Amino acid sequence: MKRAKRVGIAGMGCYLPERVMTNKEFEERLDTSDQWIRSRTGIRERRIAAPEQAASDLGVIAGRRALENAGVAASEVDMIIVATSSPDMVFPATACLIQHSLGAANAAACDLNAVCTGFQYAYVVGAQMIAAGQAGKVLVIAAEKFSSLLDWEDRSTAVLMGDGAGAVLLTEDAPRGELLACTLGTDSSGIENLWIPGGGSARPTTHETVDQRLHYMKMNGQEIYKFGVRIIGASVTEALARAGLKESDLDMLIPHQANLRIIQSAAKRLNLSMEKVMINIERYSNTSAASLPIAMLEAEQGGRLQPGMIVALVAFGAGLTWGASILRW
Ligand code: ACO
Repeated sequence: MKRAKRVGIAGMGCYLPERVMTNKEFEERLDTSDQWIRSRTGIRERRIAAPEQAASDLGVIAGRRALENAGVAASEVDMIIVATSSPDMVFPATACLIQHSLGAANAAACDLNAVCTGFQYAYVVGAQMIAAGQAGKVLVIAAEKFSSLLDWEDRSTAVLMGDGAGAVLLTEDAPRGELLACTLGTDSSGIENLWIPGGGSARPTTHETVDQRLHYMKMNGQEIYKFGVRIIGASVTEALARAGLKESDLDMLIPHQANLRIIQSAAKRLNLSMEKVMINIERYSNTSAASLPIAMLEAEQGGRLQPGMIVALVAFGAGLTWGASILRW
């Protein structure tokens, strides 16, 4: 029988904009406090892209760093998949703009929008392109400028999100991050719990939609909170089972950095001590699709990912979407 291709990570990179915005700065413009934000979310500060930086600018730097880390030239890349819900423009895809800047002239390029679950979806799609023999090197980039989607007058959402980008180069027989199993899902009954209702073809931008602030992120925080706690545990357990593993086999959980309390509750459900959970939400807040690759890179740079470890990536977001994958480091 033909052995399935082992697809993993040949290189990783990320980029965080220079500007650090602390919770204190929100105190000056909104009825909120550093104490409220820290105690409810775990966030202390976030990075905010410069006005002239678009999502593609963040993604290009992360992508270039991943290629350098792998020792691979941009011209060798067969496909670029960009996970983003804050694209530079409606079209072309942000991936096309990144392809141009990287000089990855031989790469097919497209975007994938699963909001905060985008990296999970893109990672799995990219890995399957390689497993199916349709591509050799796939650059998966998650790039988000969520600061451009926030209503800066809405304290219930403005304090939660930040900007950033992370990237991985996937290849066959890579030294780490071999994808063992995954699960992806969507529960569209929750669409209106997290969305940007205006600015698309359903409600094209008009003076009225702008006056109603419909082009900003709207969220039912409590519903998303309950969903997050439930789905992190359920999807990691399912992905582990698909890999023929159980919760006690897990060495490290790298969850979407949406809320520290969500992560703590989910870890408890998985009987996992917090020492085995990667957390960096205090510095970057929720960078949507970029949150997982940034956390994964920091876990490796911090020496927390060792060869042979069983690692779970898990994310959830608007849609409502979710995804978990099990990697062997
Ligand atoms: N500062 C001070 N008070 C606030 C703030 C703030 N920044 N935001 C909300 N409040 C107030 C509310 O108005 C409310 O006041 P009220 O009781 O007078 O009405 C009170 O705090 C409690 O509000 P809750 O919504 O019950 O607060 P909660 O403890 O649920 O925390 C939070 C809110 C942090 C948003 C939480 O619900 C959460 O994290 N939800 C999940 C968010 C998430 O995971 N998003 C990820 C997806 S993002 C994506 O996919 C794009």
